[in-house]
Amino acid sequence: MAGQTDISPGLVQYLRDVSLREDSVLRDLREETEKYPMGHAMQIMPEEGQFLSLLVRLIGARSILEVGTFTGYSSLCMARSLPADGRLVTCDISEKWPQIATPYWSRAGVADRIELLIGDARSTLAALLEIKGPGCFDLAFIDADKAGYPDYYEKSLTLVRHGGLILLDNTLFFGRVIDPDCADADTEAIRALNSFLLKDDRIELSLLPFSDGITMALKK
Ligand SMILES: C[S@@+](CC[C@H](N)C(=O)[O-])C[C@H]1O[C@@H](n2cnc3c(N)ncnc32)[C@H](O)[C@@H]1O
Repeated sequence: MAGQTDISPGLVQYLRDVSLREDSVLRDLREETEKYPMGHAMQIMPEEGQFLSLLVRLIGARSILEVGTFTGYSSLCMARSLPADGRLVTCDISEKWPQIATPYWSRAGVADRIELLIGDARSTLAALLEIKGPGCFDLAFIDADKAGYPDYYEKSLTLVRHGGLILLDNTLFFGRVIDPDCADADTEAIRALNSFLLKDDRIELSLLPFSDGITMALKK
């Protein structure tokens, strides 16, 4: 079988040169976020954002759930691809980070499509299930605390409609998944979830070796 191409920093730059279409709103938000400690590590890569935008259009999503807003780069990428009456519900445990996002959402003209919920995603998703019921989202993007992923996945699987898509970020977790010295709760949760997903016959599955690993789970 063919081997996986090693994506060197030079190749990432080439990929950006020939395919990245990041506009000034996204670039300004990314550059502001990168000024904060951890800003660079927490924010998705711009080409991943562009991929999320494309997926939203590809499946014709009208309602999106996001777990882990941070400064709103991925929210903005996805909200922009929604139709004007589409809706993105995004949640974060921190009030501080999403405050940076809101002026950029307004500048991009999508603030009215985005609903921000502050609180622990465990309770936020449980509340959404109570209020909205199952199958109310077309797409869920999970990018928050890794120890919470198994819980967020199960709840998202109920919240997403049949034929809808769940995306999980960081499923290669900076290579920690194959490092025997890494036994912290976050790494163990990602490992356990990856193994669980392989056998979960409620979904079609693909783990893309793109960015830090993006798992795509299509609900049957
Ligand atoms: C990796 S960042 C998300 C990055 C974002 N997708 C972007 O593109 O900028 C993870 C976010 O998850 C949030 N978070 C951590 N634990 C959480 C929890 N229990 N419930 C909700 N959000 C949580 C953090 O506050 C942080 O803003």
